[in-house]
Amino acid sequence: MLSAGSCGRKRLILPAFLAAVLLLSGCGKGSGGADGPPDTLQDRGEETTELSSSLSGSGKEEETGGKEKPRTDFHMNEEPIAVNRGEQLTIGFSQIGAESDWRLASSASMEQVFTSDNGYNLIFSDAQQKQENQIKAIREFIGQDVDYIILDPMTEYGWDSSLQEARDAGIPVIIVDREVKVEDEDLYAVWAGSDFRLEGDRACAWLEAYLETLPAMKDQKIGIVDVQGTLDASAQIGRSEAVREAVKKHENWELLDVECGDFVQAKGREVMEQMLRDYGSRINVVYCENDNMAYGVLEALENAGMKAGGDLASGEVLVISFDAARQGLEKTLQGEIAVDTECNPLYGPILSRIIMALEQGDELPKRNYFEEKQFSSLGTVTETTVNGSAYPVVLLTEELIQNREY
Ligand code: AHR
Repeated sequence: MLSAGSCGRKRLILPAFLAAVLLLSGCGKGSGGADGPPDTLQDRGEETTELSSSLSGSGKEEETGGKEKPRTDFHMNEEPIAVNRGEQLTIGFSQIGAESDWRLASSASMEQVFTSDNGYNLIFSDAQQKQENQIKAIREFIGQDVDYIILDPMTEYGWDSSLQEARDAGIPVIIVDREVKVEDEDLYAVWAGSDFRLEGDRACAWLEAYLETLPAMKDQKIGIVDVQGTLDASAQIGRSEAVREAVKKHENWELLDVECGDFVQAKGREVMEQMLRDYGSRINVVYCENDNMAYGVLEALENAGMKAGGDLASGEVLVISFDAARQGLEKTLQGEIAVDTECNPLYGPILSRIIMALEQGDELPKRNYFEEKQFSSLGTVTETTVNGSAYPVVLLTEELIQNREY
């Protein structure tokens, strides 16, 4: 049975902001950092050429209704930028909650960067998975007359009025991670986050390539279930769309069920238990939209006496996941998760660069993507292709996991 589940509803404006983009990509040395002096565009002049060439490698073309628009992919391993304008910048940050390892890592990233040593006063508001709490937090930030509001929106819709209030108060809003769909895009200054559809497309391209390495599965029916994240969240929308579209392209792939696990482990286990009761051994692939739900899925499989792994011909269930958090990667190294596509939560440093650029009056692209990787320990697929672009699949090692930041 296909259902919506129980979670809710069933420019590049070049010359002017090239410098800002270069600042944001920050591939050179000399970024201020917590201890160093504040960066300025001027004192980074020498790095500009170097950055320019490094950026050209990460520019991708995005389809926008027939019109192609250049896009910039932010590198994530950059130093934060400290501000120095004589007084602290007050930032109101509305976080969704603490539903996943990923979310905890994103909160930690914000708290590490927006410190008083770096020239910030961070007001952190945890919405506990409720959009109404985020709307309330925005109003409180306006009342506190913060300098910037950063919003990681739970779902895409329902933001017009509160963002309008922030605009009326003259407070710039930066949207991070998930997106908002609003009537007037000028209601926020910038969005920076993951390309969730691309993440899903890469996962499905990996599955397609992997199945080609299994002669015994050729032309066999491949039963897939999708354990979705919070409905109407960009991360859910993009990843779910990707698997739906991939299934349409493969005659032998069948989407048996789609249920919402709300990005949390317990719900992931619950919906998997139900799917196992409903479909049992017809399930060959679990497409799980984040790591925490995948941990729950793995528990459910184990309790049902089923083995997670890549040997489909002998009845193993192949689990696909997203985030690539440390525990997810450990399970990937053990082969329980077949492929884990990264969703990078370490957005604190990038946001400090965005704020620095806005402070200097630079015009930024409206939409900015984070660069992300894909990991597997199965080794047979080393590269995938999505819309004509090739993406490497990183062969996971213990060392990589040890060096993982989240
Ligand atoms: O919006 C990013 C998603 O939200 C991550 O995949 C998930 O783990 C988190 O809760």
